[in-house]
Amino acid sequence: MKRKIGVITSGGDSPGMNAALRAVVRSGIASGVSVVGFFAGYDGIIDNRYMDMDVGSVSGIINRGGTILRTARSARFMKKEGRLAALETLRKHRCDSLVVIGGDGSFRGAEVFSKEFNFPVIGVPGSIDNDIGGTDYSIGFDTAVNTAIMAIDKIRETAESHDRVFVIEVMGRTRGFIAIEAAMAGGAEGLLVPEVKPDLDRLSERIKRGHNRGKTSSIIIVSEGAGGADMHAHPEDDNLPRNPDISISYKVANAIFERTGLEVRVCVLGHLQRGGPPSAYDRSLASQLSAAAVDLIIGGSSGIMVGRQSGKIVASPFSDAWEKCISLDCHMLDLVERLGR
Ligand code: F6P
Repeated sequence: MKRKIGVITSGGDSPGMNAALRAVVRSGIASGVSVVGFFAGYDGIIDNRYMDMDVGSVSGIINRGGTILRTARSARFMKKEGRLAALETLRKHRCDSLVVIGGDGSFRGAEVFSKEFNFPVIGVPGSIDNDIGGTDYSIGFDTAVNTAIMAIDKIRETAESHDRVFVIEVMGRTRGFIAIEAAMAGGAEGLLVPEVKPDLDRLSERIKRGHNRGKTSSIIIVSEGAGGADMHAHPEDDNLPRNPDISISYKVANAIFERTGLEVRVCVLGHLQRGGPPSAYDRSLASQLSAAAVDLIIGGSSGIMVGRQSGKIVASPFSDAWEKCISLDCHMLDLVERLGR
């Protein structure tokens, strides 16, 4: 019987997911395998929302952000009934395996599902956060950082013109990878990441010193999760309502203003970082990882994710995604500080 692979994009979208889909479909078909795409992640499998994917179905998408299959974080797939419904759909389509393009949350679901039903699943890491172990880079990170840099460069011009401090918030609830790269490449004067307790006195002192030396502006990059619970638990600087949904950046800006008297503005980049045409790096990474995933699944592998480590395509157990995520490079943190004076 002809083999058939199911494919989904799952979790937060990331630029390059379309390139990944294209590679799954085309390398599958080239190897004599049919591919069916389910819409909106695991929910689409549960609800049997699908499209049969031929070579033409992925034409003209390598350069597009988002995902033509849509995506979602499925609460139903966390429950056994949801997973049973998904299994039934996959069986109905005679799918013998599944490729999941997504982040560590999606891989956790994939691991449970593949073990529970002995159903072959392989993961392709897609997330702008780069918070997935088993790979040096996840699909979408490079594009997100470049989007942030473009925004930072533009903001710097207006900041300089008005002698202002700008607090620019980038994505990253638990990890500061986007922030540290954006701060380094954007020449930021300050950086706050979730991994390091914020010291707003020290930060303000640095900003003041720079301005006393004749600097006309400063850019402070803040991860959305900077300070974490800490910042919310001890909001000495907080003139804002204690609502965790309110961006931490306004608190940071307020603290800097109170300590320096400088004019401070906030720009939250938000979901801007999730869209846009994927960079060449992300398109190429997505293509290579997805083709490797298809080869592995055809070869009988399961319960693994593909990644690229030190330039080589590798396969690792799903659990590496959450157990082996690299830590933020302390030297890089120091360097951002040393250079951003
Ligand atoms: O995981 C990707 C990510 O963009 C995070 O950086 C961010 O915290 C989160 O998703 C935002 O999620 P949502 O799109 O559900 O608001």
